[in-house]
Amino acid sequence: ADTLGAAAEQSGRYYGAAVAQQFLGEADYAATLNREFNSVVAENAMKWDATEPSRGQFTFQGGDQIVDHARSQGMEVRGHTLVWHAQQPSWVAGLGGDDLRQAMLDHIRGVAGHYAGQISSWDVVNEAFEWDGSRRQSNLQQQLGDGWIEEAFRAAEAADPQAKLCYNDFGTDAVNAKSDGIYAMVQDFLNRGVPIDCVGFQTHLSSNADLSSYQANLQRFADLGVDVEITELDVGGSGSAQANVYRGVTQACVAVSRCTGITVWGITDRYSWRSDETPLLFDGNYQKKEAYQAVLDVLNGA
Ligand code: G3I
Repeated sequence: ADTLGAAAEQSGRYYGAAVAQQFLGEADYAATLNREFNSVVAENAMKWDATEPSRGQFTFQGGDQIVDHARSQGMEVRGHTLVWHAQQPSWVAGLGGDDLRQAMLDHIRGVAGHYAGQISSWDVVNEAFEWDGSRRQSNLQQQLGDGWIEEAFRAAEAADPQAKLCYNDFGTDAVNAKSDGIYAMVQDFLNRGVPIDCVGFQTHLSSNADLSSYQANLQRFADLGVDVEITELDVGGSGSAQANVYRGVTQACVAVSRCTGITVWGITDRYSWRSDETPLLFDGNYQKKEAYQAVLDVLNGA
């Protein structure tokens, strides 16, 4: 196959990109997205600050634009993200205890309910762990205690029973203390029947990334009984060094049968959140980079 999406599809996987709706009107941006990718995720448009700027007042304009575009192109849509300590609207900051709990549950109901039936997998909770494997001391953790993550998953399950429900984090690209902490949580959820279907590995990397336990880490989560997804892939650097890291990540995913797909965190270097780097598969002029060919070759079974 000669596009990322078609190549991934050969093994039943998706190849997706994070999309910012303000660029969909740019011809090269839309053309590259439509040609190469069969899955999208909103880079910012479905986050709490974007979707509920005032309490109880939901706005879905940006997210709907992305979903409409995806549907017109037959693409899957990942959902990102229902609950996160960052990009909360300012009104959330002052809330305590049961008020914050109610706000979180209402938010999940509002957003997951709005998109119910249209999302392949939701990042229900994003980045709730520290490097040492302990819980991040966010407002959610401090106000609601350890139970908040499972409360969020149960609310998401009720709001959209069709979507797969993921926990998503960064720095989990190896068997390490952080991924150990998440592994223990997933195991506990599965043991107690808390609804969780998948774990997202963001995979924001540099060209000297150590991938020696990357595949084994994906595999141990898969062996627990959840799908694994590469959710926010990008790699600093350029040329062969960058291509090699992209190749290694892709090889790991295709080697793990429950690795259901890969999403890169943007289409073109022109609009990457890593604004002083060139971490994506297409350069600033939408030309394919060496990393693109490396990914395509692996997806094609090379
Ligand atoms: O929308 C406003 C705009 O109105 C304003 O003029 C402009 C001025 O700064 O800011 C715009 O908001 C920015 C937003 O991106 C949309 O462009 C925010 O300042 C900026 O902080 C925000 O950054 C996003 C970041 O998450 C926020 O933490 C990045 O685009 C987005 O790529 C990044 O994505 C995260 C994932 O959600 C979770 N994992 C890590 C990943 C990278 O940080």
